[in-house]
Amino acid sequence: MRLIHLSDVHVQIDYASLPLRRYGWRRAVAQLEWVGLRRAQRFHNALGALKQIVHEIQELRPDHVLLTGDLTALAVEEEFACARAALEPIARPGLLTVIPGNHDRYTSHAMAGRRFERHFADLLRSDLPAYPGSRGYPFVRLVGGELAVIGLDSTRLAPVPGLSFGSVGGEQRRALARLLDDPAVRDRWICVLVHHAPLHRSGRPDRVSHGLLDGGELLRMLAGRRCTLHHGHVHHRFWHRAVPGRPDVFDAGSSTERGHEGYWLMDLLPDGRLVAEERTPRTPPQVDPCPVTR
Ligand SMILES: [Fe+2]
Ligand SMILES: [Fe+2]
Repeated sequence: MRLIHLSDVHVQIDYASLPLRRYGWRRAVAQLEWVGLRRAQRFHNALGALKQIVHEIQELRPDHVLLTGDLTALAVEEEFACARAALEPIARPGLLTVIPGNHDRYTSHAMAGRRFERHFADLLRSDLPAYPGSRGYPFVRLVGGELAVIGLDSTRLAPVPGLSFGSVGGEQRRALARLLDDPAVRDRWICVLVHHAPLHRSGRPDRVSHGLLDGGELLRMLAGRRCTLHHGHVHHRFWHRAVPGRPDVFDAGSSTERGHEGYWLMDLLPDGRLVAEERTPRTPPQVDPCPVTR
């Protein structure tokens, strides 16, 4: 069983070309942060890098691909459309699972209009429809006879851009607890996807303004199961090995950030061992812009 985990691809438009009428205060503040902190430069060719990774995924022929949120930089309609188009060669429910990140919820319009869900609806349907709550999570994808992939939503509309913590919440955690014990799921290798990080690279919880507020509860729920937890949000790539009280935890970092492009290639061996290696994609040759409709 072969998996690929990527995250935080942050496809972005050229913000100078976005008409002023499409700016609300949230996007204006968020853009100041995104551009001011030079993140825009670091993701200048995110779309080209994503296309390169998709090309490599087709060559590697995994059983399933996990993408743990932040598909866009500022939740602009065109960013979603470009990300979706880049993923199209692998965008089949049996091959790709995606979940939203905080950047995919940046504005009230993106949140209320469920922009992420509109663009990825076919990849968010649950194979066991009894478990998703009012917002559609947790959903589960049953892959072949060996793998179950569970998608959670840890995002919310931030009071102000920059406050980027998240939580799974009681409703989703209760549904997850029942789902983990479902006879159709419990004997499979279970991959749980959440955007926010329960642990930082150091192994300690991420800071309160940025982390997963109920990450400790989530880790304890998954401990002792044949299970891996996959997240993004912290733009570093790391693997915390399972110890008593928590499962293996993977952060795919940002797969498209300039100088740090990459993803996890993971194999579950017939003897039950998990092996994983970090892959660095071949650099895309030229900038591939995401056009804005005026
Ligand atoms: Fe991110
Ligand atoms: Fe994030």
